[in-house]
Amino acid sequence: MGDSMQRHATVYSNAKASYDVEGIRADFPILGRLMNRKPLAYLDNAATSQKPVQVIESIDRYYNEYNANVYRGVYRISEEATLAYENARKKIAQLINAKYPSEIIFVRGTTEAINLVAHSWGRQNIGLGESIMITEMEHHSNIVPWQLLAREKTAQLKYVGVTDDARLDQEDFHRHLDNRGVRLFAVTHVSNVLGTINPIREMIREAHSHNCRVVVDAAQSVPHMPVDVQDLDCDFLAFSGHKMCGPTGIGVLYGKRELLEKMEPYQSGGEMIREVHLYESTYKDPPFRFEAGTTDIAGAIGLGTAVDYLSKIGFRNVRSHERELTSYALDKLQRIKQIRIFGPEESPMRAGVISFNLADVHAHDMASLLDEDGVAVRSGHHCAQPLMERLGIESTTRASLYLYNTEAEIDRLVESIGRAGRVFKI
Ligand SMILES: Cc1ncc(COP(=O)(O)O)c(C=O)c1O
Repeated sequence: MGDSMQRHATVYSNAKASYDVEGIRADFPILGRLMNRKPLAYLDNAATSQKPVQVIESIDRYYNEYNANVYRGVYRISEEATLAYENARKKIAQLINAKYPSEIIFVRGTTEAINLVAHSWGRQNIGLGESIMITEMEHHSNIVPWQLLAREKTAQLKYVGVTDDARLDQEDFHRHLDNRGVRLFAVTHVSNVLGTINPIREMIREAHSHNCRVVVDAAQSVPHMPVDVQDLDCDFLAFSGHKMCGPTGIGVLYGKRELLEKMEPYQSGGEMIREVHLYESTYKDPPFRFEAGTTDIAGAIGLGTAVDYLSKIGFRNVRSHERELTSYALDKLQRIKQIRIFGPEESPMRAGVISFNLADVHAHDMASLLDEDGVAVRSGHHCAQPLMERLGIESTTRASLYLYNTEAEIDRLVESIGRAGRVFKI
């Protein structure tokens, strides 16, 4: 079991100077691919990240060596699968410093995690005329579930606006709270368009002092920086495995135990029940109450390996690598004529997500041109149409960075944008 892991295992040191980006890249087979005879420069990490061989092999090992359903068998491989699945839960609890592993619920991703909170906690706790506060920089997955809940409960949706320097408008935030009746604040930790890192610790404290619970969309933060749920004191926090070197189809909802214990199930069926009778049933305690049916066992195990992989490199090192790269990229991009870059200036409150538009070149045309040079970026509204409206645009091109990206890849991005400028006669 350990042999293949060791073959690929890279030894990482915590010292920044020894951040071995080439060693890290060697763990990601896909980064060796050629696109139009040029090496792939993968700069779409906010959409999904690539997977290291350690993660791919751990999933392979599950299917090859101990594939069985969890909790159900008293035979050896079922016990091995159960142990690996529960170990993954413990690793994730440790990663975000949850008090108890039972506060970690395996779901499909951030989207399902937020829907779970809306359907379960939301339905039980939001009443007629009360308010749900969200922000103008949310991903659709942290908007639409609250719209549906607000409609169902005849509750109100209140928006915290975005300032011209790409931050959350703190005046809006305080005004909504002071007007009372805000029961829930759902906010992104890091914007998937602007790269803004929101001051959620302070906002959570303020929300709590107004008897308002807080859900954090951590899809763009947990993969990139240390996140501590006890320090933040958030009530719920959601993230996706596929954005942090893990497989697709698996994600996490963290919830404070005292809240989860009072919540009704989101989905129902096998494995989440204590007893079922003809006309009524009782449910298991969290987290099992929220994991109905056969879950993505391989996904959870793969995510556990991704957590091991990233923890070994160190989240502080990942963050500092990305910060340096972001600063390098912003500096180079700003020199391009007629470029509009969105998001705050480089600072401790800016992550490695860089959205831009070049003159009136459509974002899709830009992304297609970059693709010809082997540079993979995202274009479109990034599932954040209210933010696009706020910015007065329809789309952006977005480069988003991760632990394996290099300055050479940023240079290729910049060169390719220059070529686009020439093609479009700018
Ligand atoms: C900020 C943010 N929230 C939520 C999501 C949704 O994540 P998933 O599609 O993995 O559920 C994303 C994905 O891009 C995101 O960037």
